[in-house]
Amino acid sequence: MYDCQHMVDTVRGSSLDHLLQTRLDDHEKRSVLRSLRTIDSGIGPRVLVDGRSVVQLCSNDYLGLAAHPAVTRAAADAALEYGAGAGSARLIVGTAAPHTALEHELATLKQTEAALVLSSGYHANTGVLPVLAGADDVVFSDELNHASLIDGCRLSRAAVRVYRHADAEHLDRLLHDAAGFRRRLIVTETVFGMDGDLAPLADLVLVARRHDAWIVVDEAHATGVFGRHGGGLVSELGLTESVDVQIGTLSKALGALGGYVAGSRTLVDWAINSARTFIYTTALPPPTVAAARAAIAVLAAEPERRERLWSHATRLRRRLTEIGYRLGPSRSPILPVLIGDAETAVRLSDALLARGVLVPAIRPPTVPEGTARLRVAPMATHTTDDLATAIDAFAAARETIHLP
Ligand SMILES: Cc1ncc(COP(=O)(O)O)c(C=O)c1O
Repeated sequence: MYDCQHMVDTVRGSSLDHLLQTRLDDHEKRSVLRSLRTIDSGIGPRVLVDGRSVVQLCSNDYLGLAAHPAVTRAAADAALEYGAGAGSARLIVGTAAPHTALEHELATLKQTEAALVLSSGYHANTGVLPVLAGADDVVFSDELNHASLIDGCRLSRAAVRVYRHADAEHLDRLLHDAAGFRRRLIVTETVFGMDGDLAPLADLVLVARRHDAWIVVDEAHATGVFGRHGGGLVSELGLTESVDVQIGTLSKALGALGGYVAGSRTLVDWAINSARTFIYTTALPPPTVAAARAAIAVLAAEPERRERLWSHATRLRRRLTEIGYRLGPSRSPILPVLIGDAETAVRLSDALLARGVLVPAIRPPTVPEGTARLRVAPMATHTTDDLATAIDAFAAARETIHLP
């Protein structure tokens, strides 16, 4: 009896594996196969890969706060005081003093009435959009929005209209043509994570007003990098009053983990009562929350980190262009080196790693077909030597792989 069941399981298992292997082979053929690379060190401007120290230009730890002594100290202290985990969901017994304090600090940073912390930026987007829109509503989404925004739109069950990237006129036309819906929601990143360009926020706000639509922005790549004290692009442009909902993450420039939504007290109360990705998951561990709080304090105390990040980005942009690389129209420290086909992007990335520089290829479906790239993201903590190593490697790699 046991043997028979075992045989059935083996056959079923192998046919599943066969199917999945066929898919993996297809990914490999198209140069879009993904695999994990283990780093033998913490995140920083240099990391250990296969025992070798290489310059890393691909993280979202823009300001180097993941390893900032005040941030790691805060996490360690909180672990000793509150433990390693939160013990339950936020609404049960998972809300510790650091969670509440962080929410006050985020509201201050974002200049909003209130803020709510969730487990990640992904949880924030997939949890908050469904509490704002439903089956009778329509969401207008930028065509280059992050997967978590796309998934949030899908989970909301609202109709979705995709407008051309950063094109307020196209959005205006789509809104004009979308009659018969109960509510209209515009959803966009403020700094686009794979392109580094900016949403035309002031224009989007005008369009939203014209059509009585709400506007929800994802400040994942803007927080810590733009605005006074790193408050984000909304704050830098003075549009806090005009944007209904600000979502973001603690896992990029803030160097920790977690997501948040910031806006009115009513919005936050409603999210607490209805966002499934908030209600039905364990609260963030207190050490992580403490790390994010310390990182917010560093944003205000060490503005020179932001300056250094911007100056590194300016230098890299100029030098990579001089060497002959084509960069996208970025207006942030995210620099997309556009290659086109996935196979060439992978070869360039391999050639760079051979020269001690880590920048993985970004391929479809993360970016549209035919727009594979190397997403170069400097950190404030890179040294001038690190940048020189990277620039030399880019120059040499270009020759090795015979880029046109
Ligand atoms: C624009 C955007 N939103 C949300 C997220 C998700 O954030 P997190 O990593 O905190 O889940 C990302 C992460 O890549 C992102 O780029």
